[in-house]
Amino acid sequence: MKKILVTGSLGQLGKCLQDISNQYSDFEYKYVDIDELDICDSKQILDFFHDFKPDFCINTAAYTAVDKAEEDTQKAFDVNANGAKNLAESCLEYNTVLIHISTDFVFDGAKTTPYKESDFPNPISIYGASKWEGEKHIQSILPKHFIIRTSWLYSPYGSNFVKTMLRLAETRTELSVVNDQIGTPTNALDLAEAIMHMISKHILFEQRKQGIDFYGTYHFSNEGYCSWFDFAKKIFETNNIKINLKPIPTSNYPTPAKRPIYSVLDKTKITNIFGLEVKNWEESLKTH
Ligand SMILES: NC(=O)c1ccc[n+]([C@@H]2O[C@H](COP(=O)([O-])OP(=O)(O)OC[C@H]3O[C@@H](n4cnc5c(N)ncnc54)[C@H](OP(=O)(O)O)[C@@H]3O)[C@@H](O)[C@H]2O)c1
Repeated sequence: MKKILVTGSLGQLGKCLQDISNQYSDFEYKYVDIDELDICDSKQILDFFHDFKPDFCINTAAYTAVDKAEEDTQKAFDVNANGAKNLAESCLEYNTVLIHISTDFVFDGAKTTPYKESDFPNPISIYGASKWEGEKHIQSILPKHFIIRTSWLYSPYGSNFVKTMLRLAETRTELSVVNDQIGTPTNALDLAEAIMHMISKHILFEQRKQGIDFYGTYHFSNEGYCSWFDFAKKIFETNNIKINLKPIPTSNYPTPAKRPIYSVLDKTKITNIFGLEVKNWEESLKTH
């Protein structure tokens, strides 16, 4: 039975992977968060890999506080860059395939058409820079990797835009939301499904000894695009909440970290190679 190690398992994506694991019962899973496996501790990771010997490691562990990272630079790089490096080194030693999650924030947002995997990153925040550094470590250390960049992740767990909007609506009658940043929401359950689909296909490719070089970087989000304002509007519509929602420009909502003004991800590569069907963001929000 193939073994899967999930790091950062108490986060949004980690929890969603646990939620769907009964649909993929052909695997033995181990879910660990920082208490059990700190990805900043290379010795601890090596010991863990020595004992468990995973076939796949899904790294969902990350420093995700985008604004806080502007001050907490060292911590962001420790987790997002060095943590990724540590995992890549252990994966290399134990012949483990690493599935690492990255972000649309590696891009500067200057494009006006969806970002392809071949577009060169140019992060404009510490968080984005730390995630890009992590990607580069993995690319240089470990041939057997999948880096999956995603965007605007939400789930029933942790903190995310959907939960924030619903919480604010409990006490406010009016809300102002930015309408000039364009991207695509991603239901973390859809991302979890996509990851497990890729792992299953990977095993199939290997069994058939198909010589395609399918390792590398992929983009995954839901289909379509919207502004944060459009996203908020849909969240309230879907939940039958009446609220006075006002569109505002980014300049009226200053944050410590700069965000890309446009970060829609092109999913042609992942859909072509892995035969994935990607749900529209509005459709997926309804099932949330
Ligand atoms: N959230 C988004 O909108 C978004 C968008 C694009 C890409 N992503 C990427 O998607 C992935 C999953 O995101 P998510 O929203 O599920 O993240 P999350 O909810 O913040 O979960 C990350 C988990 O990693 C843990 N962690 C932090 N430092 C660790 C360490 N040194 N060792 C082990 N675990 C550690 C966290 O613990 P603590 O909570 O105790 O810190 C948390 O449980 C991340 O790589 C993120 O960069 C997220």
